[in-house]
Amino acid sequence: MANKLRSSNWFGRTGKDGFIYRAWMKNQGIPDYEFNNKPVIGICNTWSELTPCNAHFRELAESVKRGVYEAGGFPVEFPVMSLGETLMKPTAMLYRNLVSMDVEESIRANPLDGVVLLCGCDKTTPALVMGACSVNIPTIVVSGGPMLTGRHKGLPVGTSDIWRYHDELRGEKITQEELLTIEASMCRSRGHCAVMGTASTMACMVESLGLSLPGNAAIPAADARRKVLAQLSGVQIVKMVEEGIKLSDILTRKAFENAIIANAAIGGSTNFVIHLIAIARRIGVELSLDDFNDIALNVPLITNLQPSGQYFMEDLYYAGGLPAVLKELSNFLHNDCKTVNGKTIRENYESSDCYNRDVISTIDDPFNPVSGVVVLKGNLCENGAVIKPSAATPSLLQHTGKAVVFENIDEYKSRIDDPDLEVDENSILVLKNVGPKGYPGMPEVGNMGLPKKLLEKGITDLVRISDGRMSGTGFGTVVLHASPEAACGGNFSVVQTGDLITLNVHERSLNIHLSDEELQLRKQKFTPSPPITERGYVNLYIQHVQQAHLGADMDFLEGMSGSDVSKDSH
Ligand code: FES
Repeated sequence: MANKLRSSNWFGRTGKDGFIYRAWMKNQGIPDYEFNNKPVIGICNTWSELTPCNAHFRELAESVKRGVYEAGGFPVEFPVMSLGETLMKPTAMLYRNLVSMDVEESIRANPLDGVVLLCGCDKTTPALVMGACSVNIPTIVVSGGPMLTGRHKGLPVGTSDIWRYHDELRGEKITQEELLTIEASMCRSRGHCAVMGTASTMACMVESLGLSLPGNAAIPAADARRKVLAQLSGVQIVKMVEEGIKLSDILTRKAFENAIIANAAIGGSTNFVIHLIAIARRIGVELSLDDFNDIALNVPLITNLQPSGQYFMEDLYYAGGLPAVLKELSNFLHNDCKTVNGKTIRENYESSDCYNRDVISTIDDPFNPVSGVVVLKGNLCENGAVIKPSAATPSLLQHTGKAVVFENIDEYKSRIDDPDLEVDENSILVLKNVGPKGYPGMPEVGNMGLPKKLLEKGITDLVRISDGRMSGTGFGTVVLHASPEAACGGNFSVVQTGDLITLNVHERSLNIHLSDEELQLRKQKFTPSPPITERGYVNLYIQHVQQAHLGADMDFLEGMSGSDVSKDSH
């Protein structure tokens, strides 16, 4: 053992202290030798029936436990707050930072030598990794895996199709009854969304960062090999404890750059930007919004996955999974980065092969030379905004149009289908007050649906700009995360209906055609939001949440406090 076990500060003590720590473990029917002087491995479980994507995690935890026992450790499963993307109101993102606090304090306060994070639905991954980073003990991530591909009337159907079917319902091309059938066809197995949405993006993120065993990103939840990976992760975390490999040994600046490169190549979710910055700021690695443009500059899109492409995560797995993607990216990656199994990222992918070039292309013949997330700057977003060009309409990537402004989501809902709304195919929809503070919680409403009257004319996309986020399953020419957000009194706060806006993704710019003087004049008249009326956690969140370009973490949570427990009451 490289280091003294952290858990021995609990179980290795003599007298009253040791008695109390050990005795109450024994009420679970566990003998001394099971947990004393062995690596104690926490299994941080986001299982919840209110998080359907993670509803199979009790079984997955059993597989991890088998691995921990096999390697000579002692597993203890503990629950943390779970974040179900589909059921939580007003938005699961409001609670990402709260869960990270739960995770951090649960790990630090308990006799844990290492931890396995069971992550699945979108926010559960960044929340758990952020919390674990602030403690920095040996950690490995096991993702829950994607659902099997859904099928409706013989055709594949996934989460990205929800937006399409929603527009078809509003355009009266399908009925509500058919929609019910589509729901059942789409969610036909355990697991998280089967497209390259945020959950799959996060699973790819942890694998490309080196935080999971190779293959973690794409094995379907229903595939028996997901359990095998969980068991092997249980074995590996015990070795990590024995070798003293902490999160900070893996999460170097180079590892973050690898994750940005991989995310570009897979057409990952725009939410990746916010979560990766938040994780970097927890572990103490410098990472700015501009890095996302510079690092992935020449990386093309080499996976053909919805919402940017055609296929599903199940197809990615059969085509070779993320290791096959990383192998294609070998000339871009920092190949010497260490991963949780003690091997470099190159050692992990070098024996992998691609089995389907319709799903994973070569670098020389990519699905799209344009990839990843482009960071925009300009006088409409002084601190930046993002767009995913691979999910956008190419002809709209350079576009000037008149703004149609909605001051908040309620106004959008009440006016979007108003026949008198002055909007046409050249308009730019602007939605304010859906940012971190303004909503609060930065919901996924940025890909706002189009006006019914334009849908009826066959218009399928408009430039849309907001200070909110978009589901990783969403698509369209959608500019997100405008910072500073409308609630904070920047230029985005004062854009008005009729203003001319130019989006130029090629030049990475987003500008409003107003002089500095005019903007200044408008800002002087800007009325800040009324005082906070919320109590409890939401009050704390609004007061401390930072802007999107800083990862939307709370200011007092940045950095790490380590694993020492300064006070000891026994
Ligand atoms: Fe959980 Fe999509 S709703 S991953």
